[in-house]
Amino acid sequence: MNDIFLEGYKFEKKDFCVNCHAPLQNQVAEIGTHSVEELEKMPKNLLPLTHEGITCVTCHVRENKILTLHQKKDNGVHEFKTAKNLGSPEFCGNCHQFNFPNNSEDTPRFTHEPMQNTLQEWRYYAKNTLQKTERKDIVPNSCQSCHMPDGKHTFRGAHDTTLLKNSLELHFYTRNDSIFAYIASIGVGHEYPTGDLFRHLNLTLKNAENQVIFKYRIGREFAFNGLNMSTVKNTSLEPNQPQHIFVGMQKDVKDAQYILTYHYTSERDEVRSPHLKAIFILKQGKIALNF
Ligand code: HEC
Ligand code: HEC
Ligand code: HEC
Ligand code: HEC
Repeated sequence: MNDIFLEGYKFEKKDFCVNCHAPLQNQVAEIGTHSVEELEKMPKNLLPLTHEGITCVTCHVRENKILTLHQKKDNGVHEFKTAKNLGSPEFCGNCHQFNFPNNSEDTPRFTHEPMQNTLQEWRYYAKNTLQKTERKDIVPNSCQSCHMPDGKHTFRGAHDTTLLKNSLELHFYTRNDSIFAYIASIGVGHEYPTGDLFRHLNLTLKNAENQVIFKYRIGREFAFNGLNMSTVKNTSLEPNQPQHIFVGMQKDVKDAQYILTYHYTSERDEVRSPHLKAIFILKQGKIALNF
């Protein structure tokens, strides 16, 4: 469990969070006896199991057997069981696809609104990849082929800032007297950003006086009706679908500075917990130098 999770958990301490973030029985027991403030202050090595979050056992052990993708001979220490589903996106979807909890009484536990939608986004990507090609030998990348190359457990994601930067293209161009931003994800098999609901990007333009003259937000937006959350807008970047955003007339913005930032948490959290340093600069420069 990292600091960004603990901060979120502090303000919304629900057992439901722990079910995914530190799901083992022993972890739930460790966490149950401590307040979040204690968890935060405690040196991480005191509760090693809890701070590990998702561990080998979470994914590989069921009914005392070790699950593997490829067949393995029992070695006297472990009993193995092959589980083909370890290689499938649906396996990742067990944790990376779920709806908002339903807070109305007399209703099912979850609403129909996705809180995290990565598996579903991947399905669109896979379908589109197949539609774009006539070749039968092309298979869309699975979660595993991008996030576990050669079986390596890298799970590189949004905390890898080099990956974040390299997965995005941004440039500006003029059409008549207007300036547009071209912005697209590269090599991402789902929306960018994906995962946690608060992830978003901001493209901001500032004039010579450092005033904000343009702002565009990339990500999902939600409404809260007092009981439940629903999605009202989604401007996340779809795979292979660049966005062309009008940023202003040439005479007004050609001398502007642009800055594209990645935000790990919500606008509210940024104000509430400034110490988290949850904003990362992806690209910045002068618009004029871009054409
Ligand atoms: C988030 C789930 C997850 C976690 C956590 C995880 N693994 Fe895996 N592991 C997988 C998946 C999925 C595969 C199959 C990947 C592939 O090759 O496509 C795999 C494959 C393996 C393999 C190769 C076995 C085979 O299937 O042929 C070994 C060995 C392994 N993991 C060990 C570990 C160890 C040790 C840890 C803890 C340090 C760990 N794993 C943590 C999901 C996980
Ligand atoms: C048991 C639940 C579980 C399963 C199964 C699982 N994940 Fe995750 N995964 C998580 C949680 C929880 C996090 C967030 C950890 C955090 O930031 O505290 C996460 C984080 C990630 C990240 C982001 C890491 C980062 O540093 O930003 C990637 C990438 C990822 N998972 C990919 C996968 C892939 C690919 C699979 C399938 C092979 C998979 N996960 C299976 C629970 C799971
Ligand atoms: C074509 C390669 C590709 C495929 C396929 C893919 N991903 Fe990713 N994924 C990426 C890249 C690149 C990033 C980093 C950029 C970003 O955050 O969108 C990423 C980021 C992530 C993150 C981090 C998001 C965050 O906010 O921390 C998670 C979680 C994740 N992927 C899970 C999955 C799961 C689950 C699947 C399958 C259902 C999957 N990915 C399929 C390339 C891929
Ligand atoms: C059904 C499983 C599930 C539940 C329930 C869940 N999460 Fe998550 N959460 C995830 C996964 C998977 C990720 C990784 C996606 C990503 O990296 O964007 C994640 C990411 C996060 C992050 C971003 C962490 C980071 O590294 O930046 C925060 C914060 C977070 N969750 C807080 C919570 C809180 C608070 C709750 C309870 C109100 C909760 N989660 C409930 C699965 C879950």
